[in-house]
Amino acid sequence: MTKIIGQPLDRIDGKKKVTGSATYAADVEVANVLHAVIVTSTIAKGAITALDDAAAKKAPGVVAVLHHGNAPELPKAETRDGNQERVLQVLQDSQVYYSDQPIAVVVADTLEHAQAAAALVRTTYRAEAPIGQMKGQLATGYSPKKVGSEPTESRRGDLDIGWTLAEKKVSATYVTPVEHHNPMEPHATIAVWHGKTDLTIYDATQGVFGVRSRMAKIFGLEVQNVRVINAFVGGAFGCKGSAWSHVALAVLAAKAVDRPVKLVVTRQQMFAFVGHRPETSQTVQLGAKKDGTLTALVHDVHAETSQFDEFVESSALVSRMLYDCANATTSHKLVRLDIPTPTFMRAPGESSGTFAIESAMDELAVALEMDPLALRLKNYAALDPNSGKPFSSKSLRACYEQAAAKFGWAKRTPKPRSMTRDGKLVGWGMATATYPANMWPASCKVELRADGTALVLAGTQDLGTGTYTIMTQIAAETLGLPLDKVTFDLGDTSFPETRVSGGSTTASSVGSAVKVACERAKASLPAAVAAGKDRVIIEHKNEEKPQRKGYATHSFGADFVEVEVDEDLGEVRVTRIVAAFAAGKILNAKTGRSQLIGGLVMGVGMALEEHTVRDPRTARAVTRDLTDYHVPVHADIPDIDIITVDEEDTVVNDIGAKGIGEIGITGITAAIANAIFHATGKRIRELPITPDKVMA
Ligand code: MOS
Repeated sequence: MTKIIGQPLDRIDGKKKVTGSATYAADVEVANVLHAVIVTSTIAKGAITALDDAAAKKAPGVVAVLHHGNAPELPKAETRDGNQERVLQVLQDSQVYYSDQPIAVVVADTLEHAQAAAALVRTTYRAEAPIGQMKGQLATGYSPKKVGSEPTESRRGDLDIGWTLAEKKVSATYVTPVEHHNPMEPHATIAVWHGKTDLTIYDATQGVFGVRSRMAKIFGLEVQNVRVINAFVGGAFGCKGSAWSHVALAVLAAKAVDRPVKLVVTRQQMFAFVGHRPETSQTVQLGAKKDGTLTALVHDVHAETSQFDEFVESSALVSRMLYDCANATTSHKLVRLDIPTPTFMRAPGESSGTFAIESAMDELAVALEMDPLALRLKNYAALDPNSGKPFSSKSLRACYEQAAAKFGWAKRTPKPRSMTRDGKLVGWGMATATYPANMWPASCKVELRADGTALVLAGTQDLGTGTYTIMTQIAAETLGLPLDKVTFDLGDTSFPETRVSGGSTTASSVGSAVKVACERAKASLPAAVAAGKDRVIIEHKNEEKPQRKGYATHSFGADFVEVEVDEDLGEVRVTRIVAAFAAGKILNAKTGRSQLIGGLVMGVGMALEEHTVRDPRTARAVTRDLTDYHVPVHADIPDIDIITVDEEDTVVNDIGAKGIGEIGITGITAAIANAIFHATGKRIRELPITPDKVMA
């Protein structure tokens, strides 16, 4: 059989993307469409006392101005089911819970008319003083019931014993900031009603089925009468994992004016009501014997959430499983602020959490006068310390060895400020990367024809990650057909159901469904042909493999980083990254590498640049465009050397892929901070590490 899986094929959708013919949600041509613009609150807490829409209604081209005084009731928008849903603000009352909350929607014949009229809406408020930052508020923290599906707290062994045994201790608090996802494509929705009971939604989303079920519930429709379509996603990083208020507002507006409505969230609004990575304050305490053996580990997390909803940044979960330490506790607390609800952002929990634990491990290595890599190897977890289960596969040792060798780690001189180049301080740092290998049920339909062609369908998404390409590779190889005889399509709720493309699950879950469905189709074709048929159609729902229950399933990696620091300017340049990852089977070496690099680049941004500044007096984001919100550009990124360690895992799922969308952004922030410490002797525990902190 020809080997197609794993090959570094170009993206199947690449040509469409670079020629501008890929149809993103807002690009879909819909006849008779009107344009909607959201008006948002200018206060963060209080109530609207008067909303004057007279001038807006009279403005050219305006068809409707919707607000709490005239919008239809949607009581189901204020409750949520499950982790993916959010409490929405859809013009139901006069309350304001955060700055830039949607308070009105203007619908007009053109976008420009809608924008002009939106500026004419006049609002007065009864304003209260908001609380816009966690600083000073940690005492109000409460324990959420769960962290995703995990317990909020964990405890193993006996910390008293652990501290008694400890010959060295470190304790520090690490802070990670508010960040906004800012994919290139903003959120966008086109809502098209067909009568009163049927609805089509084109939506920029990571999960067409999640949008379908949420909108069906809110608008009282049968799910099968709602169709959600999204062929391309221009980036997401988690903010498109839930249906936010604007989706319901577009549907509501289309219903109110009885015409299709297009609503595109503005870049400024991307800093408001579509989620963000919450600020965290994390305290890590470690105790170890002189030889480096960990005896005590404590990781306590505070993260912000909104007043009306709950999202938990699961930062301490990594500390439960990363190192073999007999005595360990972890906890998560939430602080309610007058802010919009935070959400998943690339490796939610693991990225912020590895900054804390992997910085603390470096601090412990310094205290012990031990090599940071040697300290990690000393505490290498052969079994999952949290559950006691074996890992389905774990090649972290190989990651450490291969990346360290390629980086030249053995040549590091341990003393801070001991390495220089061209008048600059040079620092070498390392950290461990990890992300859970999640797996969800997924369905796939295969139509395999006797003429040697096939159509494969799954209602999943391609966030730019390569889904179109890898699913085609899996199908072609499994069916034994050339790539150009196989068509794979996605992004439509009329296709078989899959879940949200989040948590690095699409390759593993949908990939497994495609593989098994194709195996079944191939096996059943001969009999069908013998019976005179010209095709077989197989629909397969793939579930988690039962044997998974006996194992811990995670990906691992190792990041080695070099920085050059100009202390006078506070400037940090990342000059070299060598990173090794073991994440099961890599389904396409090219798109896979792109995902890992993407995660590392985002990690460089998280370490040095990304930070939403929220004015504590107004609880309002003041960095609200891509000029003020800094992300890495080409000049910030050095050559990145990626090693993928071959890993065969027959337990984790049927395709053997663990998912690589998120692991790249874990560990890397700590590796950079640790390199900066090595260069300068300055331990900076608050991200991002901007020049002022380096100069201080
Ligand atoms: Mo990712 S934060 O699971 O979309």
